[in-house]
Amino acid sequence: MTAQEVMEISPVVPVIALERAEDALPLAEALLAGGVGVMEITLRTDAGLDAIKSVSDALPEMAVGAGTVVNGYECRKAVDYGAQFIFSPGISQELIESAEDETIALIPGVATASEVMLAQNSGLHYCKLFPATVAGGTAALKAFSGPFASMRFCPTGGVTPENMHAFLSLPNVLCVGGSWIVPKPAIRAGDFAAVTRLCREALGTIGDQ
Ligand code: 3PG
Repeated sequence: MTAQEVMEISPVVPVIALERAEDALPLAEALLAGGVGVMEITLRTDAGLDAIKSVSDALPEMAVGAGTVVNGYECRKAVDYGAQFIFSPGISQELIESAEDETIALIPGVATASEVMLAQNSGLHYCKLFPATVAGGTAALKAFSGPFASMRFCPTGGVTPENMHAFLSLPNVLCVGGSWIVPKPAIRAGDFAAVTRLCREALGTIGDQ
């Protein structure tokens, strides 16, 4: 799976931090029911790797990747556990090289022109803008479109149902990332129907703008 393919699956990419790995499968099914066929399971909790493995083993129709991957070791681990792509909050030479070694799509986070240059010069044309609302939001993305015309972005960090349309209307934005469609209290309570509802609400408003 290429980074472009990952970013074209759904206009909203859920950013997930799971407390229990056993929640991953019902969550993945709830996302699919809501029309979202991609999930970024972050490695910021201990359950992250096992959660990726459970979805990857059981649900081939869900594209599952690892998020918050910050070094080569975590990149290799994520691949071992079945991740199909890697999201990172930032960009580093180490991460670029380990993703190349593992032949896995890397979607790194960038926030400055220098970081976009590192990505572009490494052949990585699909990036997060992170943290999107802090790193200049839509104004930054418009400014990047001049010097970096080949780059496409997934703004993440501070994206909401209210501001996502402004991001998605930009030609250099393919999707947005966000945690609002996978609220922790709902997952903790086993209320996966709430996730399906939030997905449908989010996707339902896209195109209305
Ligand atoms: C994160 O780091 O958790 C992601 O960027 C999601 O950010 P959000 O909670 O603002 O959507």
